[in-house]
Amino acid sequence: MAHACVTVAQFIAKKTSLGKRYAKAVLCRGEVFLNQTAITDGSQELGKFDQLTISGTILQSRVPRYLLMHKPAGILSATSDPTHRTVIDLIGQPWARDLHLAGRLDRATTGLVILTNDSAFSESLMRPGNKIPKTYLVETDLPITAEAIEKFRSGMPFQKENIRAQPAIVGLLTENSCRLTIHEGLHHQIKRMFLRFGIRVTRLHRESIGPHVLPEDLASGDYRTFWPHLPQSCR
Ligand code: URA
Repeated sequence: MAHACVTVAQFIAKKTSLGKRYAKAVLCRGEVFLNQTAITDGSQELGKFDQLTISGTILQSRVPRYLLMHKPAGILSATSDPTHRTVIDLIGQPWARDLHLAGRLDRATTGLVILTNDSAFSESLMRPGNKIPKTYLVETDLPITAEAIEKFRSGMPFQKENIRAQPAIVGLLTENSCRLTIHEGLHHQIKRMFLRFGIRVTRLHRESIGPHVLPEDLASGDYRTFWPHLPQSCR
């Protein structure tokens, strides 16, 4: 159920399908508890993570969840799929169905994905204007040329999306590998960047998204909960 500016009374009426009169009656009788405090005024707004009960029955209980996951190769960055296993399948908890991804990885790509049920948080990470840096380890079939690095650093145009990427940060590690930071999340962005120079990405691994870093001791396929420091605009 959408929570944009829903009052407690509206929520009770809709969620129970018993209408406004029922909502008013249970509120008057003192049967409604908002975050464990009895309330009689149904006009206050219900936040999406507020707990609401009527006579002890939970009407809404949404715990905010934030997960860092180490995605293995072969697992889909999706919430459901008829054929392939998804990151949600890896969690194996009933509450996992409420989660969504803050940015996807290709099926073969490994590393950090963030899952949450807080859309304001995920949107803040994905909003193009926020230019959140995402850092990857990249391995390639051919040597990474000085020309490619220079073009990455000057910000490449993407015709299909009609945008010019922010200048990428490139640190060459070996002839055929680098650490690369980009500030967008375009479809197959890194593979497309290298392909412009006839270079194929053979391995891609995401190390971080903004301040969120893949923990070194988080095994492939595992996840860990965390509590973000939410900017004012996400609260
Ligand atoms: N760029 C890609 O090409 N693939 C990914 O999975 C992530 C970034």
